Amino acid sequence: MGFVIAVDGPAASGKGTIANRLGALYGFPVLDSGLLYRGVGVKLTEQGGDLDDVAAATAAAETLEASELDRPELRTRAAGELASRVAVHTPVRLALRDFQVRFAAQEPGAVIDGRDIGTVICPEAPAKLYVTATAAIRADRRWKQLVGQGEGVTYEEILADILRRDERDGGRKDSPMSQADDAVLLDTSEMTIEQAFDAARRIVEDARARWKA
Ligand code: CDP
Repeated sequence: MGFVIAVDGPAASGKGTIANRLGALYGFPVLDSGLLYRGVGVKLTEQGGDLDDVAAATAAAETLEASELDRPELRTRAAGELASRVAVHTPVRLALRDFQVRFAAQEPGAVIDGRDIGTVICPEAPAKLYVTATAAIRADRRWKQLVGQGEGVTYEEILADILRRDERDGGRKDSPMSQADDAVLLDTSEMTIEQAFDAARRIVEDARARWKA
């Protein structure tokens, strides 16, 4: 295994931006694992499937292609909700697991962001961050992002989405969203993107100095 950087945390905490910037800094490929669940939820819905139909959701996961992950539909508000609905099914998680483990195995390293990367997918990752922020601040960030993408939504709707998703993702039986014992907590509530990235970089540099040392 190369130098895997696991970046977990709740919706709109800033983990995606941090993961991308760390990837650029080290020259590592970056996987947004949420896109896999978004892909499954969107594909299943487009097929007319039911989100609670475990067999249909698993089939959608098993046939998901990397080329399906670039679709703008996956970045919508609705897709986030669909993703968290299918993410509760263990066979769906298992079907997406190999892809993530293989991604993480790339040399000289890889960055993966998600909910269970440091706990379940890559428990041996040498660098783990758990990125969070208050629900109000996360809702504000996500609201601005979605409005920027042209979605007509209110801040209150997004806050409700985020609270519901936090509860579902943190409360599910399989791979609940949680901070790994050896992950470093990074609360970005009061930070600019620049400050958050700088803090993340320092955490990763510390881990790198200890790695194989
Ligand atoms: O961008 P945002 O943080 O809103 O969500 P995302 O990272 O795209 O993830 C969408 C949903 O996928 C989450 O709410 C989780 O239910 C699920 N997910 C997961 O279960 N495990 C992961 N490693 C990543 C995402």
